[in-house]
Amino acid sequence: MRDKAFIIAIDGPAASGKGTLARNLAKHYGFHHLDTGLTYRAVAKALIDQGLSLNDEELAAQVAAALDLKGLDRSVLSAHDIGTAASIVAVMPKVRTALVQAQRKFALNLPGNVIDGRDIGTVVCPDAEVKLYITASPEVRAERRFNEMRAKNPDADYNVVLADLKHRDERDMNREASPLKPASDAHLIDTSKMGIEAAFLEAKTLIDAALRN
Ligand code: CDP
Repeated sequence: MRDKAFIIAIDGPAASGKGTLARNLAKHYGFHHLDTGLTYRAVAKALIDQGLSLNDEELAAQVAAALDLKGLDRSVLSAHDIGTAASIVAVMPKVRTALVQAQRKFALNLPGNVIDGRDIGTVVCPDAEVKLYITASPEVRAERRFNEMRAKNPDADYNVVLADLKHRDERDMNREASPLKPASDAHLIDTSKMGIEAAFLEAKTLIDAALRN
């Protein structure tokens, strides 16, 4: 039994496939999984539900500090517009400080954790044993998101989804606090032309090698 948690940090832009990969890896290795995107989404949704502004940093930071990671429900938080709202509160340093504190505490869980987000390899867990950066072209990512949305909403529009994703990438990559970028020691996996299984196998090869060390 390890006495220190083994950490797999997964970063990447929206709809890159990092969430599915993270869940599959956590299941395979018997590790805990935290989708940190849900923490930003939960803050945004709590503000929206109470009719409060998304632009008040003090208020958003209070909500972030009170957040219970155990109560995060993907089915409630997965809506596309909550993702966009999340990227608005995610630029706020005080919100990030509160959420990163909770995320680092989660990362102590034994025997290990798969944590996915935008700043895991760079800020939340810079000492992670394995760091992956998952990308795909904006067009491929928009198509994936569009297909997910169309199942629930027949009026979903591919061009609107593509424009939204590009806008969100822009905001995530160019913000001052913890912008989305690969850690210098991250392994890049481009899923534009790769299925879920191939991405899993590539990640598994890297992780198995790190576990042997
Ligand atoms: O699932 P999707 O990739 O669309 O989004 P998400 O991972 O749930 O993240 C929603 C938003 O939260 C992102 O666009 C980021 O602005 C923010 N986020 C962040 O800043 N840092 C993280 N570690 C995770 C998410």
